[in-house]
Formats: sequence, structure tokens, C-alpha cells
Amino acid sequence: MIPVGGLGTRLLPATRSQPKEMLPVVDKPVVQYVVEELVRAGITRVLFVTGRRKRAIEDHFDADPELDTGPLIDPRTGLQILYTRQAHPAGLGDAIRYAEGFGDERGVVVALGDAMIETPASSGSGIVPRLIETFSQSADVAAAFAVATVADEAVSRYGIAVGEPGDAPFAVERLVEKPDPSDVSSRTAIMGRYVLGPEVFAALREVDRDASGEVQLTSALERVVESGRRVIAVPLAPGERRHDVGSVQSYCEVFLQYALTDPRIGPALRARAAELIGDERR
Ligand code: G1P
Repeated sequence: MIPVGGLGTRLLPATRSQPKEMLPVVDKPVVQYVVEELVRAGITRVLFVTGRRKRAIEDHFDADPELDTGPLIDPRTGLQILYTRQAHPAGLGDAIRYAEGFGDERGVVVALGDAMIETPASSGSGIVPRLIETFSQSADVAAAFAVATVADEAVSRYGIAVGEPGDAPFAVERLVEKPDPSDVSSRTAIMGRYVLGPEVFAALREVDRDASGEVQLTSALERVVESGRRVIAVPLAPGERRHDVGSVQSYCEVFLQYALTDPRIGPALRARAAELIGDERR
């Protein structure tokens, strides 16, 4: 399930009529990278939970005989894409409730539509298969999600997991959504890839809305931890990186990295960038 309900206010005016998930990184919209990541993980059905001003996403994945030189996603993958709309935007937790019953009884993979995970060939099949494996290892595990260490100043932009972090998956002891960095010692942040079991959907029905009227997924996960069920944090592997396109700065950074390393345009762009930087230094 890919939630794409967020308004993208930090990217205005670029996102006035265009979803932030449709912003291109080189020549593909961000959301296509996310779908391709899920397809590589062996997923064959994707549910988008969309909302106002998000119709461009549906158009993007439709076949278009006038434009297509080939299919966007290889039809041999058998990928089916479904869409539903979040009628009243009420936060990530509320969007996720639309996926209840979409997966099977084991759980649903959730990938946030505004974050790409760069997966180097050396890190194998990627974070989503590792999350599915961790989640499936024991009936005791109610949820698993990806984490990475972030800098102090980034703590207040993420859900923060408290436990005994290291390179290996660990059981979460406590979760806090977007805390002040002085309120938690952990720097282990939730990276926007999850596998959620039925207990999480039950908890989503029970948690209170936050001060801004939103249902937080992190609060539901915290409730599941408090009930004694296991929630596992799985660290991104060395070389795996999450690229968030939620702010102008982070969007420009990911565009720059992907453009400079693209074999079609990278060499010429590097030369041009070197010229520009040289001009600036003079
Ligand atoms: C959401 C989650 C947060 C998580 C983040 C990752 O926040 O609520 O826990 O760390 O995604 O991108 P958002 O970025 O939607 O505000």
C-alpha cells in the first residue's frame, strides 16, 4: 500500500496542482521509483490511497498508446494497481486504515510515496524483502519497519524508535512521533517502509487523534508495543539510503545525486557543474 495523501506544502508552489509524488527525479516521477522498488520485492498488487489533487498519479500508471514506446512496468511482473481515495485527509494512520483487508491475514507492506530507497546492488534484494522476512519469522511479531540513524537536528521530523540499536534488527521498546531531540536519546528514525499486521489496524481504530486532528501510525505502533506484542526495527544496510522529496532542499539533493550518477547525462553534467562551481569560486 502506498499512501500519497500528503499535501506537499513544503514544496509550494511546485505542488499547487501537481502531487509531490509526481515530481521527477531525472526523468521518472518519485512514485514510479517506489512502485519499481515494490515490484523488485516481488509484490504484485499495489493499493494507492490518494486524495485531492492526486489524480495525476493514476494517469501516470495508465497505458497511453499515443505516448508509450513500451510498458511502464514490465507486464510479466503481473502488477495490478488499485486506487482508493482518503475522503477526509486525517493523517498517515487514517490513510493506512484504508488498507485493512487489502493484504492477507499476515499483513500489508506500506511504502510512503514521497521517499525513495536507494538500493545498491551489493545490498541484495532490498529493505522490503528483509522486512517481510523479519515479520514472517514469528507469529509474535505484529509489525516491522525500516530505521536509520539521523542527525540531532533531524529527530523532530521522524518517528523515533527506542530500543537497543545496532546493525541487526531489534525489538522496539518505545516509539515517539517527531519528538524534540532533547526529549529522547535515541537517534533511530522510522524510514517509511513498514509491514503491518492485524494488531496495528486494530490499534489504529483505538488511538486518539493528535493535536492537529491526525491519526498517527506511530501512536498505533506504540500502542501495539505497550500491549506486549513485538514490533521490530530493521536497520537500512550500508549503502542503502532513503531519499525524501518532502522539502525543496532534500528534493534538490536527490535530483542532483541521481542526475550526476546517471550514465546518460552524468558525465556532461559533472563537467558543467565543475564549471559553475569554478565560476562561483572566482
Ligand atoms: C511519517 C511518519 C514518521 C516517519 C516518516 C518517514 O511522517 O509519521 O514516523 O518517520 O513518515 O518519512 P511524515 O514525513 O509523513 O510527516
